[in-house]
Amino acid sequence: MSNTIIVGAQWGDEGKGKIVDYLTENTDVVVRAAGGNNAGHTVISNGTKYILHLIPSGILWKDKVCVIGNGVVMDPIGLLEEMAKLRGQGVTITPENLLISETAHLVLPYHKGLDKAREAKRGDKKIGTTGRGIGPAYADKVERDGIRTILMTQPEILEEELRDRLARHNATFAELGVELVPVEETVKIILEAAKTLAPHITNTTVYLHEAIKAGKNLLFEGAQGTYLDIDHGTYPFVTSSNTTSGGACTGSGVPPRMIDKVVAVGKAYTTRVGSGPFVTENEDIGDMLHNMGREFGATTGRARRCGWLDSVLVRYAVMINGADELAITNLDGLDGLDTVQICTAYTLRGKTIHYPPSTAADLAACVPVYETHQGWKQDLSGIRKFADLPPLAKAYLKRLEELTGARVSLVGIGPDREQTLVV
Ligand code: IMP
Repeated sequence: MSNTIIVGAQWGDEGKGKIVDYLTENTDVVVRAAGGNNAGHTVISNGTKYILHLIPSGILWKDKVCVIGNGVVMDPIGLLEEMAKLRGQGVTITPENLLISETAHLVLPYHKGLDKAREAKRGDKKIGTTGRGIGPAYADKVERDGIRTILMTQPEILEEELRDRLARHNATFAELGVELVPVEETVKIILEAAKTLAPHITNTTVYLHEAIKAGKNLLFEGAQGTYLDIDHGTYPFVTSSNTTSGGACTGSGVPPRMIDKVVAVGKAYTTRVGSGPFVTENEDIGDMLHNMGREFGATTGRARRCGWLDSVLVRYAVMINGADELAITNLDGLDGLDTVQICTAYTLRGKTIHYPPSTAADLAACVPVYETHQGWKQDLSGIRKFADLPPLAKAYLKRLEELTGARVSLVGIGPDREQTLVV
């Protein structure tokens, strides 16, 4: 039995979907425990591209069970659209292979309205959210004003609760001068969605514990990344959930002592979408990657901000996630470069530091200390064995291991399933 948590070591978009998909082969159950459909996981399998937002990528496998855990915020309309799209691509989704926690909270149309209205009001302090209503849904949960998915199995109470929230939120919208959410239409759509989703809704914590007892292997598919974590990330430029490994436990009901391994996924360089400090940001790297047709968001299509590999961030991520291993993706993105830089430390107000400071303002004031490595100048995408990587690419990965204290166990050199090298 082995239960593994996958987390992002940077600001999300590290290629976790692909690594999860790769590791799913030896897994029975794939679990999402935090976030919502703000996530966008791209998986390419047998030449077909699948984009997943809420559904764990294990759904692409015939014999795996996927669980949306209690820590997730679930947009029922978004989920139904995602299910329809995947079914259109030939993927089978049933109440047997997709289970939704009855204590996960719903993301409702008024949450999206609030998300957009708040962002607009922030002006140049905007976070750059995905506009999926994630922050307001978590705020309602913590405020004890949320609606849990279990009510989708109790339509009368669901309707009552919905009407109550719509009345209150519309009153706020009226004050903000924001367009009101249509009550009757929303109630109708959500009640209809409830009918379709109800068979999937269950006590997933009990299911997961029974699966563990039966000797099944669990894989926790992280969403977003360490630096988008509400506690450990670059607050306030973060998402509203715990995206680090601890969140996998609270967001599923599987206790820490039942976790065997944590794998942190990071790109061979760094990217971020949305606002906030980014010490190693580099426009030339961004232009190069965008010209290669890479680094556009799977959820919003936004061009991602790009920069050099920041080992300060990865080292800290290894520490707070308790990562045993690193999976490094997109190594091939650096194929054309004469020289490659790694940030090994920061200087902040004249002092050298080896961890990210706790305020966004201080992080923005950090100056990167770089180490320059010779580029391998070779197309890596056709390589199928780690041993066949050019020595300079291996040296780059070795240096990352030294700087972070974690072993590199997987290397991604392209989007396809077979472009993952085992070390
Ligand atoms: P929210 O999660 O939509 O509230 O957005 C908060 C911040 O997290 C913004 O900077 C988003 O761009 C970022 N974010 C949310 N989900 C993802 C993701 O899956 N990948 C990368 N960034 C994300």
